[in-house]
Parts: sequence; structure tokens; C-alpha cells
Amino acid sequence: MTITNPVIDCILSRSAAKYYDPAASLSDDQIRELVRIGTTAPTSFHLQNWRFIAVRTPEAKARLRPIAWNQPAITDAAVTFIIVGQLADSSVIPARLAPLVEAGIMPAKMVPEWEIPARDLYMDYPQRRRDEAIRTGTFGAAAMIYAARSLGLGSTPMIGFDAEAVHRAFGLGKEEVPVMLLSIGTERPGNWPQKPRRPVADVLDLV
Ligand SMILES: Cc1cc2nc3c(=O)[nH]c(=O)nc-3n(C[C@H](O)[C@H](O)[C@H](O)COP(=O)(O)O)c2cc1C
Repeated sequence: MTITNPVIDCILSRSAAKYYDPAASLSDDQIRELVRIGTTAPTSFHLQNWRFIAVRTPEAKARLRPIAWNQPAITDAAVTFIIVGQLADSSVIPARLAPLVEAGIMPAKMVPEWEIPARDLYMDYPQRRRDEAIRTGTFGAAAMIYAARSLGLGSTPMIGFDAEAVHRAFGLGKEEVPVMLLSIGTERPGNWPQKPRRPVADVLDLV
């Protein structure tokens, strides 16, 4: 049984782009819209522990490329996002939930019911705080990848960069982790189609 619809077609047709049209740009409003869509991805306790640095000027691209394995996508793609995850911090939860309470989605008395378990889950566990930063950034990036695809744009998630150098060169805070780079832009011909995957039977356990 195979299922098709436009969303699934978008997912199935995505591939990681290598070649971008260096003459094609995205407006700051288009970049904002991609990030707005990215931020509708789910995050643990609605922490929204992310930040997005849109590297889109020649100067900023020139700063990033040498500390990102000199990957051509960084200068060729319209924009490369530094997807920044922030270490999970339960103390931000009241502020993050306030708009839901104001909108009448969540009763105010539920706020501590989210904040206290989050404190117990994360605050004495540095690895969990970092894991959540990576998960959050990855979900956000994934939403942007598929949004880009639906708009006919290519994308490339990249781990080929010097994390410490990126941290320094783009002023990340001490509680911030560069999760990945994500180039997005108009493709030029020559990109590979999506690669074949391992068979479902090899990766799925039905229990
Ligand atoms: C976390 C992550 C890091 C990646 N890093 C790079 C990278 O630094 N440079 C690159 O060209 N591609 C990178 N890729 C792209 C992968 O090579 C690509 O997604 C994989 O080969 C599967 O191909 P497909 O995305 O076209 O299906 C990365 C992908 C992921 C998910």
C-alpha cells in the first residue's frame, strides 16, 4: 500500500542539494517566513529553545565558509541558517506558556504542572539539557527543509563545520549550541535525486 498526497510527495521528493544558483537570493521577508514556519515545530514543554542566524550577506557568508569545511553551498545558496539550540532551561517556561494562558488555551494553574517536571527532568542533568537543544534545533530545521521543498527550493543540512569557531564567529551564548547549518536556496542542475533507503523491514520492529 502506498499513500500519496501533496505533503507526502514533498517529503518523498526532497534530497540534499549540493549545487545552488549563486545569483538567486531570498528576501528578508522570505527568510522570516521560513523561520516562522520552522518555529511551529514541536518542542519539549513548549520550550522553543532555539535561535536562527540567517547568514545571507557576502560578508557573513565569507566569515562562515572557511569554518564550515569550505563547503560551496555556504556562498552559493541564498541563505545558510546557523540552527542554534539552547540548553533546556525550565525557568523560561512561565514566560513561554504565558501567551497560551492569555489566549485561553491553557489554564494558568497548569503552568507549574509543566515547569516542575521540566525542572526535575533537566536541571541537574547537563546531558539531557544538551540533548534537548539538539532535538529542538533538529525539529525546527526539518520543518524548514520541507517548507523549502514545498516552495521549490533546495536545502542542505550540514554538520561539516567547526562548532567552536562558529560559536565564536557568530557570538553564540554560553548556553547555546550550533546544532547544524542549513543552506536553502534555488538549486542549479546537477543535484542527485534522493538516495535509496534501507528497506523498511531492516529498520522497523512491529511489536
Ligand atoms: C545531520 C546531517 C549532517 C549533514 N552534513 C552534511 C554536510 O556537512 N555536507 C553535505 O554536503 N551534506 C551533509 N548532509 C547531507 C547528507 O549527506 C544527506 O542528507 C544524505 O546523504 C542522504 O541524502 P538525501 O538527503 O539526498 O536523501 C548532512 C545531513 C544530515 C542529516
